[in-house]
Amino acid sequence: MIIGVLKEDPPGEQRVAVTPDTVTELQKLGYEVVVEPGAGAGAGFPDDRYEAAGAAVGSATAADIVLGVNPPSPERLDALRPGTTLIALLNPRLDPEFVEELAKRPITALSLDAVPRISRAQSFDVLSSMANIAGYRAVIEAAHEFGRFFTGQVTAAGKVPPAKVLVAGAGVAGLAAIGAAGSLGAIVRATDPRPEVADQVRSLGGDYLAVADARPDDAPDTGYAKEMSDDYNVRAAALYADQCRDVDIIVTTALIPGRPAPKLITAEMVATMRPGSVIVDMAAANGGNVEGTVPGERVVTANGVVILGYTDLAGRLPAQASQLYGTNLLNLMKLMTPQRDGALVLDFDDVVQRSMTVVREGELTWPPPPVAVSAAPVAAPPVEHEAEAEAPSRAANPALRRLAAAAAAAGLFGLVALSPAALQVHLTVFALAIVIGYYVIGNVHHALHTPLMSVTNAISGIIVVGALVQISAGNAAITVLSLAAILLASINVFGGFAVTRRMLAMFVRS
Ligand SMILES: NC(=O)c1ccc[n+]([C@@H]2O[C@H](COP(=O)([O-])OP(=O)(O)OC[C@H]3O[C@@H](n4cnc5c(N)ncnc54)[C@H](O)[C@@H]3O)[C@@H](O)[C@H]2O)c1
Repeated sequence: MIIGVLKEDPPGEQRVAVTPDTVTELQKLGYEVVVEPGAGAGAGFPDDRYEAAGAAVGSATAADIVLGVNPPSPERLDALRPGTTLIALLNPRLDPEFVEELAKRPITALSLDAVPRISRAQSFDVLSSMANIAGYRAVIEAAHEFGRFFTGQVTAAGKVPPAKVLVAGAGVAGLAAIGAAGSLGAIVRATDPRPEVADQVRSLGGDYLAVADARPDDAPDTGYAKEMSDDYNVRAAALYADQCRDVDIIVTTALIPGRPAPKLITAEMVATMRPGSVIVDMAAANGGNVEGTVPGERVVTANGVVILGYTDLAGRLPAQASQLYGTNLLNLMKLMTPQRDGALVLDFDDVVQRSMTVVREGELTWPPPPVAVSAAPVAAPPVEHEAEAEAPSRAANPALRRLAAAAAAAGLFGLVALSPAALQVHLTVFALAIVIGYYVIGNVHHALHTPLMSVTNAISGIIVVGALVQISAGNAAITVLSLAAILLASINVFGGFAVTRRMLAMFVRS
C-alpha cells in the first residue's frame, strides 16, 4: 500500500505527520511513501531529505493511507479515493460537523486524539506527546515575556532573586512545565486535586501545594480529574489568591476530560499580581483557566500582567513535535500492520483501534463504546512484615541470604585466625568494619546514599589527627605541611557536612 503524507492546510501549522526517519521505518513495514511538496519544510525536513530516505514527492490524496496532523479541508477530503484510510487529529469529540463530513465519504477515518488513555496505548498517545512539548514551550514563552532571569544570581552588580513559578494542574503538560521552569533555575510550586502527583512534582524539584483542609472525596477515584465540588473550589481559590500575590509566573494546565476547563484564577486575583508577571493559560482552547484569557492571543491587563492564551504551543516547536508525532504514528502503523507486509488491517476487536475509528468504510462508528480508564495508583497487596514490603527481593529467599552471610562471616574470621599475629588486630578491625558498615549502610534508604557518600568525607578527619600529631615535630617543613594538610582536610570535612545538609534538606517535607 502507498502512504501519502499531507502538507498541512492551516496557516502557520509547521508540523508534519511523517519525518525522514519514520519514512525508513514505514518502508520496513512494507509501505511506499509519498510526501507532498514542502510538507516538512516548516519542521526542518526539506523534500530532498524525504527523497534521500526513499520517499517520493507528489500528491498524497491518491494514496491508500493518508497521514496528517490536522483535519483536512472538505476540498481535500473530496480528493481522497474511495477506500482510503485517513489518520490525523480529527477532533471528533468537539467537532460533530466534521464527523458528519467524514461520514459522507466512502473512507475510513481514525482520530489520533481518540486513543484511549490506557497503558498499552501510551506509545501512540499523541495527546501526551504534544502536552509534554506544550508544557515545555509554555515556560519558554513565559521566559520570553518575563523581563528578568528565572534563576537567582549573585553578581558584582547586585543580587538577583529567582523567579517564582506556580503550575496549576500537574498532568503531562504541568509536569513538563515544572521540569522546564526548574531547570531554568526558578522556584517552582504546583497544585493539583490528585494527591498522587505530589511525589512526581517533588521528583522534578517542585513544591507540591495541597489545597487546605483536604477531604477524602477531593481526590478523583479514577486518577483522572473530575469536576471539583464548590467547597473544594472555594478552598482552592484561597490558595490561588495567596500565590498570585507572591509568584511571578503562572502556568495553568487544568483540564477535565469532556468538560470545559475549570476557572481557577479570577480577574481580581490577576489584579493583585506584580506588573511584568506572566500567565500562560494552556487551557485556553477549552475555555481557559484564567479570567481574561483570549484564545490564541497575548493580552496585557491594566496592571501590566501578560496573559498568553496561545493554543498552538506544541506547534511552536515543529521539529520536536513532528518527531514525536511521527514516532507515535509509526507505532500505530506497526500495530495495524501485523504481518509487516505493507497491508493495513483495522482490528475492531482491539479496543485502541475501535476507539479511534470515527468512520469505517463510509459507516459512522462514532462515538465508540466507552473504555474504562484509570490512572489511579494500584494499591499494593497487603504484606505481613514492613521490611518485606520495602525490600521484596531481599525477602525472596531469606534462608539462602542468611546462609551466604554466615559463610562470608566464617570466611572472614577464619582469615583473621590464620593470619600472622602482627596482622590480626588490623584484620579484626577490617572484619568488624565490614559487618558494621553492612548493617549501617544497608539500613539507609537508597535515595539517601548520595548524602551518605558526602558525609563520609569526614574520614579525612584522620588526616587532621595525623597532622596534629606531626605539627610539633620541630621541623619547619613538617609544620608547614601539617598546617596545609589540616586546612585542606578541614575543607573536605566541613564541605562534606555542608553538602550533606543541603541534600538532606531536599528530603524534608515542608
Ligand atoms: N496512556 C496513558 O496511560 C495516559 C496518557 C495520558 C495521561 N495519563 C495519566 O493521566 C493523568 C492525567 O494526565 P493529563 O495530562 O492527561 O491530564 P489532563 O490534561 O486531562 O488535565 C491536566 C491536569 O489538570 C488537573 N486538574 C483538573 N482539574 C483541576 C483543578 N480544578 N485544579 C487544578 N488542577 C486540575 C488534572 O488533575 C490533571 O493533572 C496523569 O496521571 C497521566 O500520567 C495516562
